[in-house]
Amino acid sequence: MSTGGAVVTVAGRSTAPQFRALPPLALYVHIPWCVRKCPYCDFNSHEAPGELPQQAYVEALLTDVELALPGIWGRTVHSVFIGGGTPSLFDAAAIDALLSGLRARLPIAPDAEVTVEANPGTFERSRFAGFFAAGVNRLSLGVQSFEPRQLAALGRIHDADEARRAAETAQMIFGNVNLDLMYALPGQTPGEALRDAAEALAFGTSHLSFYQLTLEPNTLFHRHPPVLPDEDAAADIEESVHAALARAGYRHYETSAFARAGWQCRHNVNYWRFGDYLGIGAGAHSKLSSPEGIVRELRWKQPRRYLEAVAQREPVQERNAVTREDIGFEFMLNALRLAGGVPASLFAERTGAPLSLIARPLQEATRRGLLDADPQWLRPTPLGRRFLTDLQALFLPAGATPSPAARTRHVHAGS
Ligand SMILES: C[S@@+](CC[C@H](N)C(=O)[O-])C[C@H]1O[C@@H](n2cnc3c(N)ncnc32)[C@H](O)[C@@H]1O
Ligand code: SF4
Repeated sequence: MSTGGAVVTVAGRSTAPQFRALPPLALYVHIPWCVRKCPYCDFNSHEAPGELPQQAYVEALLTDVELALPGIWGRTVHSVFIGGGTPSLFDAAAIDALLSGLRARLPIAPDAEVTVEANPGTFERSRFAGFFAAGVNRLSLGVQSFEPRQLAALGRIHDADEARRAAETAQMIFGNVNLDLMYALPGQTPGEALRDAAEALAFGTSHLSFYQLTLEPNTLFHRHPPVLPDEDAAADIEESVHAALARAGYRHYETSAFARAGWQCRHNVNYWRFGDYLGIGAGAHSKLSSPEGIVRELRWKQPRRYLEAVAQREPVQERNAVTREDIGFEFMLNALRLAGGVPASLFAERTGAPLSLIARPLQEATRRGLLDADPQWLRPTPLGRRFLTDLQALFLPAGATPSPAARTRHVHAGS
């Protein structure tokens, strides 16, 4: 990789894919700053400088999207996700300028889902109301826990009451809210995790993300690991909370996502159905299809380097063609996260390759009881969901390593 312009790699055998139609397109916008870096977090997030360059960054994002337009001409954007970092550090006026600028440059569907991620430590009623007035219709709030001891252990900048006030107000203003909770926290018992889930549900939010705390390389927790519940204890917590969410009418529709009927996150479902996304902003990932093939892009990660790169009209640091050898794995890595799976016909639709490309691993997965035997669907069995990583690994091409974007653990394209 050079430190100058984008590196374009086209490795492996390149048989041009045959698309009948291009996949739906989503837009991801990354805001890379936070008040303080949390000790467990490996997202592309940086402690905010004294004053955030909000105007310069919004202008850069709009230039970034203009530079990307030739790759997506004429395609409608079905969802927008403004993630981070902490996008709620931005004023409502900056989010308004961003969304108006995007609408002026891109055909965004009138009924598009438009999500903003928020940290309860940045909550103000007027800010949330301003986001809503700017066209944001869904808010995703990083609560993590309502337990004061856990919030302190996680180095969060807010207390439980701030999280409660933010959740209550978000539900009132947006009506479509996700709360992030983490589990398997230091010393956590199933009872404590159940209390967190019950509190979250009490706000009436339609969507809940429930992530197991993982120790990620390059984080403070990785260097100085806290004592976490062991595998069996984490499994007990998971089981009891999953059961409670099911009783409350939330469907476990994806590995870490739960929603009431009709309230799934449309933006994330597009990722898991191997849809296309343009990711703009520092460190954002894109996956874009065209008659020439599928390309993944990564933008410069450091906010300052990104701003310079946009000024030089080259925000993309790396560009890689997805090869025919990797495409089966990349599709299945995403699709198998969905509890209901996907129709088998979606494979050819989204990859431009025939399903026969993965006939062998499909047979093997079915034989091992990890994949449903129904040939019309690609759907994990309960056993396959439990051993998802093993199931996904069956689709790895021999001797190949998946691209970094494909390995991304978190749901959005900016991590
Ligand atoms: C971008 S943050 C959400 C918005 C905001 N930055 C915040 O933290 O409040 C995305 C979510 O990823 C989850 N997350 C981050 N690091 C994690 C880790 N190491 N293990 C599990 N979940 C993690 C947290 O639940 C977090 O709310
Ligand atoms: S968890 Fe959220 S607030 Fe904490 S550092 Fe990561 S992105 Fe920032």
